[in-house]
Amino acid sequence: MIVVTGATGTVGSKVVVGLRERGEAVRALLRAGSSGPAEWDDAVERVAADFSDPDSLDAALAGADVVYLLVAVHPQMAAHERNVIDAAVRTGRRPRIVLHAAAGVEHRPEGVRFVGAHVSGLDHLRDSGLPWTVVAPNGFYQNFLGAAESVRTGTLAVPGGEGAVSYVDARDVAAAAVEVLATEGHEGAVYTLTGPAALPLDAVAEQFAAVAGRPVAYTAIAPATALAGMLDAGWDRWRAEGMIELYGLYAAGHAAEVSSDVEKLTGRPARSFTEFAAEHAAVFGG
Ligand SMILES: NC(=O)c1ccc[n+]([C@@H]2O[C@H](COP(=O)([O-])OP(=O)(O)OC[C@H]3O[C@@H](n4cnc5c(N)ncnc54)[C@H](OP(=O)(O)O)[C@@H]3O)[C@@H](O)[C@H]2O)c1
Repeated sequence: MIVVTGATGTVGSKVVVGLRERGEAVRALLRAGSSGPAEWDDAVERVAADFSDPDSLDAALAGADVVYLLVAVHPQMAAHERNVIDAAVRTGRRPRIVLHAAAGVEHRPEGVRFVGAHVSGLDHLRDSGLPWTVVAPNGFYQNFLGAAESVRTGTLAVPGGEGAVSYVDARDVAAAAVEVLATEGHEGAVYTLTGPAALPLDAVAEQFAAVAGRPVAYTAIAPATALAGMLDAGWDRWRAEGMIELYGLYAAGHAAEVSSDVEKLTGRPARSFTEFAAEHAAVFGG
């Protein structure tokens, strides 16, 4: 039995589908009141649980052989990872944990709270004595869907400086995770999941211009301006500050490593940003 947490999200929902396509027995952890995406088949076992509620996690993990541990970005995300790991230990079955972290986690970058939470989760996992594997994706192509409205008006305005980032398609992240979950031989591995190239943001804007058929300009805005904009737009401060930290990592060129782990795991090359932009041309103004 493979238990998938974060199962209704961008990556987790696709992991559930991919595991079912391989005939795996899957239990999806859902929050109370959710029944999961329509594309899941009836054989997906649904269980209500919350990362902040250890009793619910005990019930959700009972009988697990493998656990996909994906927590949402949240001020308590480090505690949420610890709670799932502790519940896995309490099962007494030593389930294999596949921790969905973030690229660079093994370098323990400081001052980037989202990655720092995964560093602390990985430390806890190592200390737990459970068998573990890490999948560590870089920023998803799909994050740019949130900037589509601005792209349609001809501007990509973010505080990413000039740094290149080896963004990855969330579908490739899910496919790689499915392989790690469904097959043996991954203990102690940290798989860095990236696209096939590192792109600076002016190259990203060029790709949007190509599919939109009109100019799209990248404007590197100052971090303080970006933070004020996010707060004005209603973001909570913890998350907005975390995004600024992440953009700082990107701007410094610390997210540019290109890895071949997607292809190693899935047997096919990682999707390019060009493919992603073309598939979503209408969204970006084409
Ligand atoms: N986005 C990126 O570019 C990127 C890059 C690298 C790594 N990451 C990492 O990827 C993870 C996010 O993945 P994602 O984008 O697929 O997530 P997502 O779409 O935000 O989905 C989060 C999932 O967690 C569930 N969830 C939220 N709070 C919960 C709680 N208290 N108890 C139980 N379930 C809860 C959500 O359920 P509901 O549907 O009920 O809300 C949903 O299924 C984060 O750990 C992040 O650090 C992201």
